[in-house]
Amino acid sequence: MKRLNSQLQEDGCPLELILLIRTLLAGCKEISFRVSQGELAGVLGSTLSDNVQGERQKKLDVISNQILKDILSESGYVKALSSEEEDTVVGCNPDGKYLVSIDPLDGSSNIDINSLIGTIFSIQHAPQWMEPDDPQAFLQPGTQMVAAGYVLYGPSTVLVLTTGRGTHGYTLDKTHGGFLLTRPNIRVPEQTQEFAINASNQRHWEKPMQDYIADLLAGKDGPRGKDFNMRWIAAMVGDIHRILSRGGLFTYPFDYREPNKPGKLRLLYEANPMAFLMEQAGGEASTGTQRIMEILPTEIHQRVPVIMGSKEEVAMCLEYHNREAN
Ligand code: F6P
Repeated sequence: MKRLNSQLQEDGCPLELILLIRTLLAGCKEISFRVSQGELAGVLGSTLSDNVQGERQKKLDVISNQILKDILSESGYVKALSSEEEDTVVGCNPDGKYLVSIDPLDGSSNIDINSLIGTIFSIQHAPQWMEPDDPQAFLQPGTQMVAAGYVLYGPSTVLVLTTGRGTHGYTLDKTHGGFLLTRPNIRVPEQTQEFAINASNQRHWEKPMQDYIADLLAGKDGPRGKDFNMRWIAAMVGDIHRILSRGGLFTYPFDYREPNKPGKLRLLYEANPMAFLMEQAGGEASTGTQRIMEILPTEIHQRVPVIMGSKEEVAMCLEYHNREAN
């Protein structure tokens, strides 16, 4: 089976980017080990602190953030880092060529129930003019990403990665510690009968999403004329991995709970990297009104509504949004 290195070389990745990705993955392998130790290593449960988003940090959030922060800032390849678990950007090497954004441990609520969790990342070029601790440099649209991916800590540890030449899936071979190419050129089926949403928030959604989901739930007897199945893992990495595997529509839509937060998911280290993977696999990713990768970020922890997955189903959901707008 092909190794990650060979695939990245074949995709024409610059050496420094390959080395950066390998460094990041060395950190993820350590996280994978800590996760697999679970209660034996005393890593479950919460800390007594909240992150900048006001969410209570789990011990594994803090450990994973520290592992990645240490390994990336010491690597020399990274100029600055932004993380869900850091209030502001972390300046690294002033000569580093890249900016890295991370959600060190996505799906924190799954940690203590031994369910799916993962690390999400995106990589951009570092502008030469920037000071290492300048958040402004991170505010580039997703179309500027040079690589994005996630590592899913599930029954096996899986990497899904794009450098803009397709989306490829790898499995960590724990016998020798390398990622092997197990799913080259992932393609998301264009049609689907499966969707993912936290339906308990229904009363907070906008009308187009209310109408769209109501029609899915009406199944064969409704306007869609077919039954739909629903799945919700409560970790974006898990839901997106399923959709990259067998199709589906994932949404964490706009909701009215907190008007200053137009969605739950963060643009830089959740929505953008997943949108890049999805588009490279033939899927679509939108906020409902705009392609996610074209959003010009206004701050590093910005939240956006997310609708992504199988092309035709995303297009259908957007039709409901367009109808409402006209
Ligand atoms: O970071 C956000 C996240 O954990 C995502 O991974 C996941 O899709 C979502 O939140 C789950 O949200 P909720 O707890 O509302 O189901």
